[in-house]
Amino acid sequence: MHYQPTYESVSRHPLPAWFDNAKFGIFIHWGLYSVPGWAPLAGELSETLATGDWAKWFANNPYAEWYMNSMRIEGSPTQRYHQQTYGADFRYFDFVEEFNAAAQQWNPDAWAELFQRVHARYAVLTTKHHDGFLLWPSQTPNPYLANYHARRNLVSEFVNAIRRRGLKAGLYYSGGLDWTFNDTVIQHIADIPKAVPQTSDYVNYANAHWYELIDRYETMILWNDIAYPAAANLNELFAYYYNKLPEGVVNNRFTQRFQLGADGNIAADNFYDFETPEYSSFSEIRAKKWETCRGIGASFGYNRNEGPEHHISVENLIRLLVDIVSKNGNLLLNVGPMADGTIPELQRERLLGLGEWLDVNGEAIFDTKPWIVADGSTDDGVAVRFTCKETNLFATLLDTPKSHVFEIKGLRCTDGTVIQLLGSSAPLEWHATDAGIVVTLREKLPAAPAHALRITPIPTYRA
Ligand code: GLC
Repeated sequence: MHYQPTYESVSRHPLPAWFDNAKFGIFIHWGLYSVPGWAPLAGELSETLATGDWAKWFANNPYAEWYMNSMRIEGSPTQRYHQQTYGADFRYFDFVEEFNAAAQQWNPDAWAELFQRVHARYAVLTTKHHDGFLLWPSQTPNPYLANYHARRNLVSEFVNAIRRRGLKAGLYYSGGLDWTFNDTVIQHIADIPKAVPQTSDYVNYANAHWYELIDRYETMILWNDIAYPAAANLNELFAYYYNKLPEGVVNNRFTQRFQLGADGNIAADNFYDFETPEYSSFSEIRAKKWETCRGIGASFGYNRNEGPEHHISVENLIRLLVDIVSKNGNLLLNVGPMADGTIPELQRERLLGLGEWLDVNGEAIFDTKPWIVADGSTDDGVAVRFTCKETNLFATLLDTPKSHVFEIKGLRCTDGTVIQLLGSSAPLEWHATDAGIVVTLREKLPAAPAHALRITPIPTYRA
């Protein structure tokens, strides 16, 4: 298919199967903010989405990658920390030297190996966050700050290492905020549209970067953030991209008039391949593909203040992924490396825990589709999530049933149906009841965050 630079034409872009099937990707927020690696412990975005208290959010921003904004808010904890640690004269841009020195230590292959080991199928790197620092020496350098980019070409080394391990490489770019072009301090959600640079210089700058990320690095995702300047021609950009990389995908954050939904999703008026709720998920099956992004803790950038209690547990991470996939979503789980590229142990441990569960249960996740319904339950109240693939239904119990006999409601299975626990080939004993099916095991399941059953052929559903 050849795309024309019109909405009508680019909106014919079909969702590529690789992205639909991938289910699990790794987001990486790495940049100057990784040097201080500091933010107050103020809870997760989901809480602010519920309360709407944005003034409190920005003054106590738990996103460490917002350090440059937070340190400019009078009296904020980040401002105090910065003055105490570095002194009032130390500018944010002075972190460049230390970042570049530390990044010499980075081993891109260690990242790629870890991501592959935990079964992620794609990875997305921040090439420019809101502070404007470029992770690659661009042909279009920052016009205000000399050498305001990584000395090593982190973008090129990243995509190469990721691809060598068979994962797809995607790139994030903050099109809507660049504090070197517009340094409006953001203290409320209503300040964001005022902070989006709208000059023609910026349009050319951001466009040049996206074209460069497509041409030189063949990014498989245009993961734009916040918004995009109103004068840009997005249909032209997307048509160019899809003609060059038809398997590429575009997220929904290229909106040219910023709006944040109460569900944490950014409302877009242009075409996109998928939606991007942040620290939140949709609670029903959606026809349109979506991808939840979140940190392992409450921040995307590395935050040295976060202890184990601020990181999502392996149990909840597994349940989160299962739930998202049952509703047609992917999980883009973020790691925030330290300035030298080291992935902190607490984050690594969570990834490995999820990876181990996927070693056994990945079949219920990867390459699946949502079923007729996503949510179910057992007779003793254990939540169940469904996915399907070919002739199989996967019913994943999000906890361990109390008894070795449990009923899954809503399933009508034909005689001869085979039910197995992933990780074991023995068929399980089962019989039909009025409400569904009863599975009888020899003994109680061992405690685990989630247990996946394969049911063949796919049952019919009854409410
Ligand atoms: C946001 C934030 C940000 C983070 C992100 C990832 O809206 O501003 O710091 O990069 O999106 O989804």
